[in-house]
Amino acid sequence: MPNMRLLLLLSLTLSCSLARSVDSGVARSGVGIVGPGSVAGDQQFPWQALVRMDSNFACGGSILSASWILTAAQCVRGFSRFSVMVGSTYASYQYSEQNKWQEIGSRQAIYHEDFNNSSYLSNDIGLIQLSSPITWTAYTSPIPLPSLDASNTFSGWPTTLSGFGSYGTNGWALSNRLRYVNLVIMDNDQCAATLGDDSIRPTNMCTPGSLDTPVGACNGDAGSPLVVLQGYGLVYQQVGIVSYSSMNDCGSKPTVFTRVTPYLDWISNHTGIVFPA
Ligand SMILES: *[C@@H]1O[C@H](CO)[C@@H](O)[C@H](O)[C@H]1NC(C)=O
Ligand SMILES: *[C@@H]1O[C@H](CO)[C@@H](O)[C@H](O)[C@H]1NC(C)=O
Ligand SMILES: *[C@@H]1O[C@H](CO)[C@@H](O)[C@H](O)[C@H]1NC(C)=O
Repeated sequence: MPNMRLLLLLSLTLSCSLARSVDSGVARSGVGIVGPGSVAGDQQFPWQALVRMDSNFACGGSILSASWILTAAQCVRGFSRFSVMVGSTYASYQYSEQNKWQEIGSRQAIYHEDFNNSSYLSNDIGLIQLSSPITWTAYTSPIPLPSLDASNTFSGWPTTLSGFGSYGTNGWALSNRLRYVNLVIMDNDQCAATLGDDSIRPTNMCTPGSLDTPVGACNGDAGSPLVVLQGYGLVYQQVGIVSYSSMNDCGSKPTVFTRVTPYLDWISNHTGIVFPA
């Protein structure tokens, strides 16, 4: 179904769009980090980043270290100026957030050399190196990544998605507040069957949508982190990066993520961050 592919690709391209015309006839309801989600508390997602590209576009990201932000390739390729906000749960600066809000420019931005936009999106992963380091406060901290265990698909795991993506009927504008929703990671085969095409690769993972109660990522959420609680100490680890969902109906179909574990080497090679084996 070539049209389906095109639709998906368009949604990918547009999924980090911010400043599109609101009255373009794109009807949405209850979109964004949609569904039974909530506004995030102040220290709930201290690894969340808001990435602005060339002033007019926005994506999510996550803090890997004081100098490196993990995001999606679609949030990097084609853009030249990046500004990263961490620390605040507000998308736009306000005086009350002055002690939390940190906005930092970029030194360089990298996207995966095999990022493929010819048909289906694959290798949708990117990195932004900050021009000065993040100051660690009660509102900022890095998110650990899982160690590579190829047999662990995380299928059936409870997971949490957070982001500043659009919410409500105003489908192109960012949510003014960071939002989150709790979900369960899908089996890849089930995701492919639900989406009705073969675009889901082993390097993807999905969370379910719902026609009745739309739930999932939307415009502006690309690059945002999907986390699980892992280990005896029950620490959060990032397992996915928001990549795409189907256009015009965020949350009614599965949200598709870039899986983090296949790219641990790639991340290490570019950032110098050494992950535990
Ligand atoms: C695909 O990527 C190439 C660069 O690799 C770019 O020139 C082209 O515009 C992209 N196509 C779409 C549809 O985004
Ligand atoms: C990119 O997509 C095309 C079309 O689906 C496919 O033939 C090609 O192998 C893909 N390349 C990579 C590096 O995944
Ligand atoms: C990472 O670097 C090592 C050592 O140079 C190399 O063997 C490996 O292929 C690289 N992996 C990736 C994914 O870039």
